[in-house]
Amino acid sequence: LTTQVAIIGGGPSGLLLSQLLNRAGIETVILERSTRAHVLSRIRAGILEWGTVELLQVAGVDARMQREGIPHDGCYMTDDERVVHIDFLELTGKRVMVYGQTEVTADLYAAQDAMGTTVLHEVSDVEILDLDQPRSAVEFTHDGTRKRLECLYVAGCDGFHGVSRKTIPEHKRQEFERVYPFGWLGILSETPPVNDELIYSNSRHGFALASMRNSNLVRYYVQVPLTDKVEDWSDQRFWDEFSRRIPSEAAGRLITGPSIEKSIAPLRSFVSEPLRWGNLFLVGDAAHIVPPTGAKGLNLAASDVYYLHDALIEALSGRGTAGIDAYSEKALSRIWKAMRFSWQMTLMLHRFDDEDAFAAQMRRATLDHLAHSETARRDLAENYIGLPF
Ligand code: FAD
Ligand code: DHB
Repeated sequence: LTTQVAIIGGGPSGLLLSQLLNRAGIETVILERSTRAHVLSRIRAGILEWGTVELLQVAGVDARMQREGIPHDGCYMTDDERVVHIDFLELTGKRVMVYGQTEVTADLYAAQDAMGTTVLHEVSDVEILDLDQPRSAVEFTHDGTRKRLECLYVAGCDGFHGVSRKTIPEHKRQEFERVYPFGWLGILSETPPVNDELIYSNSRHGFALASMRNSNLVRYYVQVPLTDKVEDWSDQRFWDEFSRRIPSEAAGRLITGPSIEKSIAPLRSFVSEPLRWGNLFLVGDAAHIVPPTGAKGLNLAASDVYYLHDALIEALSGRGTAGIDAYSEKALSRIWKAMRFSWQMTLMLHRFDDEDAFAAQMRRATLDHLAHSETARRDLAENYIGLPF
């Protein structure tokens, strides 16, 4: 087997990169550990920055999103009963799009099928070789046999638990990490949204988020201790807890129903530098993780893809290596700003178990400042809608 760019991981990063490269006439092969059904069953992000929306347009995978996605002009932040509206459109001239990661991924698989790209599923024991040679290779097991894929470049799009990052020698990378002492319990339920815009709720009982996928599908979250298991949370317990964490006016309008999905995700900030080692480039969750507060995970993966697709097209069309040489630095400068924003949002909205009264006052003052300062709201909005690429 041979290709120009070997892509490890068929999640949103790998699929979008492949799609953009294919449209520029560059050949790719995608190696994915799971089945397609498994990749498409994972419920994850729900909010797209406008830059992500535009990149999906460039990739030619925006038709269904334009029909079914819901543009949102703002969101709400609360402190118990106090509600602050952040009007993205008025403050920045931009909005965000409600369109689930599952849908983005499904659209990308359909586009890659139409393109005729080779996507191998249920690939195991991936090994990335010869990264310091002019030609590199990826060896893997598929259909019970060991195979070899020769390539010029390798894109490590295999998420936090993938092999790509670990292929870079330990002494050549630096890791930065913050682990938070709680997780998010999320449910999907076929009920109408409690509010027309998202509510990020800071309450004395802990954080809650009211999000949605469409007019009859909600995605709601509550902050939970890391020791909690999904089995500890009946639907009834979830609804009780969720409704006491959102402002009572909203809780009064809440329509409950059975959950159709329920999962717990731990919260973490993580960056591994640099993003390049020889012919290998790390993209998305393979290189960095943000806590979900602020909806940056999927959007950061998209901005990495933006920088890398451009750089690889330049290199593979014989226009030089300036782009791939600058990839790591360029992507990291945006990554660190999204790291800062999601860390700050996490501190502003969650209750920490061991916190003292001072920490609670700091949260309160932050919300109070947001309520009174348009400058503070504009700063939040500018980060939320996404910094420019
Ligand atoms: P992934 O989506 O992780 O894709 C990596 C792919 O590589 C996977 O399909 C995996 O099967 C495959 N792979 C892994 N190892 C190998 C291997 N060795 N060989 C071959 N293939 C391999 N972000 C938000 O903004 N909002 C949210 O609400 C949100 N919720 C999340 C909930 C969870 C549980 C998780 C894990 C993440 C969540 N995120 C959220 C983050 C967001 O989903 C990710 O940032 C996004 O999926 C990153 O895309 P990716 O393609 O880089 O990585
Ligand atoms: C969703 C997830 C987020 O982390 C967020 O900040 C907003 C929305 C969601 O799953 O809908």
